[in-house]
Amino acid sequence: MCTGPSSGHWGLIVELNGKTALVTGAAQGIGAAIARRFAAAGARVFIADLEKQAAPGRALAEALGKAAFVPLDVTSEESWIAALAMVEDAGGLDILVNNAGINIREPIEVMRAENFDAMLAVNVKGPFLGCKHAIPALRRRGGGSIINMSSVCGLVGHRYTTEAYTVTKGALTLLTKTIAVRYAGDNIRCNSLHPSTVDTPLIQELFKDPARKAERLGEVPLGRLAAAEDVAAAALFLASPAAAFINGVALPVDGGTTAD
Ligand SMILES: NC(=O)c1ccc[n+]([C@@H]2O[C@H](COP(=O)([O-])OP(=O)(O)OC[C@H]3O[C@@H](n4cnc5c(N)ncnc54)[C@H](O)[C@@H]3O)[C@@H](O)[C@H]2O)c1
Repeated sequence: MCTGPSSGHWGLIVELNGKTALVTGAAQGIGAAIARRFAAAGARVFIADLEKQAAPGRALAEALGKAAFVPLDVTSEESWIAALAMVEDAGGLDILVNNAGINIREPIEVMRAENFDAMLAVNVKGPFLGCKHAIPALRRRGGGSIINMSSVCGLVGHRYTTEAYTVTKGALTLLTKTIAVRYAGDNIRCNSLHPSTVDTPLIQELFKDPARKAERLGEVPLGRLAAAEDVAAAALFLASPAAAFINGVALPVDGGTTAD
């Protein structure tokens, strides 16, 4: 008979009481959904985003209660040091979600080199610096959880996605696994999430064209777009004690897309 942690106390361990999380790019979209989910599970949440996002970031923090906005440009090492110092002053870090990301939708043949650099800076250098500075902070707390926001495009090639995006999201998949292996001894778990297309205002614009809508939905065996809340629920699981033995995993949140 299975007597693992799921046999009886499941409801108790998918919670984050007493934990502190920093979520990047959390003023809107998937990051905001994660911040809301973590706060509802009992965590104190630092909503980290660019200074220009301070208004929605502060409004979200106010709505959540045990939360604060922290200005952070993930491409800047100084900015990471300052943001994590703020978290340290508040008692220390248990969970880092490297969620901030950008997509400049230029195919390889026309993409300007400076745009490729900009995508690498936010999508790869950002999480790299975040992990670099979060690892010592997590170690001071006796361990913790890092979640890197990749994409289905970090697992397989995708005909509607640009090469630059897949380069950045693929890099996150293996950054995650290397950290998972190297820092397991410090009780630091590192996993990546791989959503398929999420229902956002941008995609609803694209869906005004019925052919494109059919094309995109046709890729997903479950027949719908991901909701930001689907991704947030997976992030909560990976952050929580329920995932205590889950380390180095690349978890699709894609309705079966990459299984097809
Ligand atoms: N939306 C999708 O369909 C989808 C699918 C798979 C993966 N993802 C990934 O999920 C993550 C979030 O996507 P989203 O759709 O919520 O995006 P979004 O554009 O709605 O939000 C991204 C947030 O990141 C912030 N950000 C951008 N550059 C930053 C920087 N340098 N420093 C700090 N913050 C910065 C923005 O200000 C914004 O608040 C991204 O990594 C994205 O690649 C999205």
